[in-house]
Amino acid sequence: MSEPWNGPRLTGLSQAYWQACALQAAVQTGLAARLAQGPAELEDLSRELALSRRGLHALLTSLLTLGVLTKHGGLYGLHPEAAPFLTPGAPRDVSNAVLHMADMVCDWAKLEQCVRTGQPVERERVTHSVETPERAHFYRAMRDIARQQAPGLAARLGLAAGQRLLDLGGGPGVYAYTFSAETPGLKSWVFDLPGAKEHFQEEAEAHPEAGEVGFLEGDYHQDELGGPFEVIWISQVLHGEGPEECERLVQKAGRALAPGGRLFIQEFIMDPEGKGHAFAALFSLNMLVNTKAGQSYSAEELADFMALAGLAEIENLGATRENSPAGIIKAVKRA
Ligand SMILES: C[S@@+](CC[C@H](N)C(=O)[O-])C[C@H]1O[C@@H](n2cnc3c(N)ncnc32)[C@H](O)[C@@H]1O
Repeated sequence: MSEPWNGPRLTGLSQAYWQACALQAAVQTGLAARLAQGPAELEDLSRELALSRRGLHALLTSLLTLGVLTKHGGLYGLHPEAAPFLTPGAPRDVSNAVLHMADMVCDWAKLEQCVRTGQPVERERVTHSVETPERAHFYRAMRDIARQQAPGLAARLGLAAGQRLLDLGGGPGVYAYTFSAETPGLKSWVFDLPGAKEHFQEEAEAHPEAGEVGFLEGDYHQDELGGPFEVIWISQVLHGEGPEECERLVQKAGRALAPGGRLFIQEFIMDPEGKGHAFAALFSLNMLVNTKAGQSYSAEELADFMALAGLAEIENLGATRENSPAGIIKAVKRA
């Protein structure tokens, strides 16, 4: 049974951003990375990281109270359970996701305005070919999340030797590389904007066992996708677009499929009746703040895009992993 609603619980919910900002500051200042190397005293941390004693003391005490840190004999350390996730470069490191969240805080503070107008926050948007620290955080966060989601999926999707797979909007290509590594003889391509290429190239090192994986530079708004492909994987792309663009894009994918080929869409699946994962619903607000028309979609809406593209055998495969807000919908192009 969920906790009853009352004043303190509602106030706590409205203050939840304090906790978020405290964790983000720990990563942004380098405190978390420093403590990942070993415990340290306040004075040493203040000197090494060039942080004010007053600010650092307040931050350390907050993180200690939240349980992210421990303190023994004056030495602050990462809680042993949190450490693997806050150690830069560790297999389950979430630092880039934390930095990506930090990059969005100022825009989220203008949510009221976005809800009133239905428009994203007005600000200059840098073109996709220019690398900025924010863009690096974004691609690395996508990479780190995908590294947790992708292993083992190839068998579930029925990937096989001799197939050609397109990872549309694949970014750093974690899915394409992992699918290829788990399916000898599979040929994969990532289709993405030019700005994603260096992250795709960087990711190659992490998958020495992957076979043939290529990068197709393009803009899915303008360009056809090539093909034919036996499999097209569209992961976490549609939520960045409005329904009309999603229809167009899924139709484009349908055209690029070989007869009998399969399309898989992975998305944060939203339940309009509020029974789904809260993350998927909140992600729709994230798209409101950040994009012109993006949103989270329900399983039915995603299935409708596939049906409108003339695809058949549409099936909801359920959550990508247990308790994951992401799910997968499959469809087949008639032979
Ligand atoms: C949220 S990320 C998802 C990355 C990856 N598929 C995953 O699931 O981790 C969305 C991806 O779509 C790409 N993208 C956005 N607009 C695009 C466009 N017009 N043409 C091609 N790719 C685009 C972005 O560069 C990014 O890599």
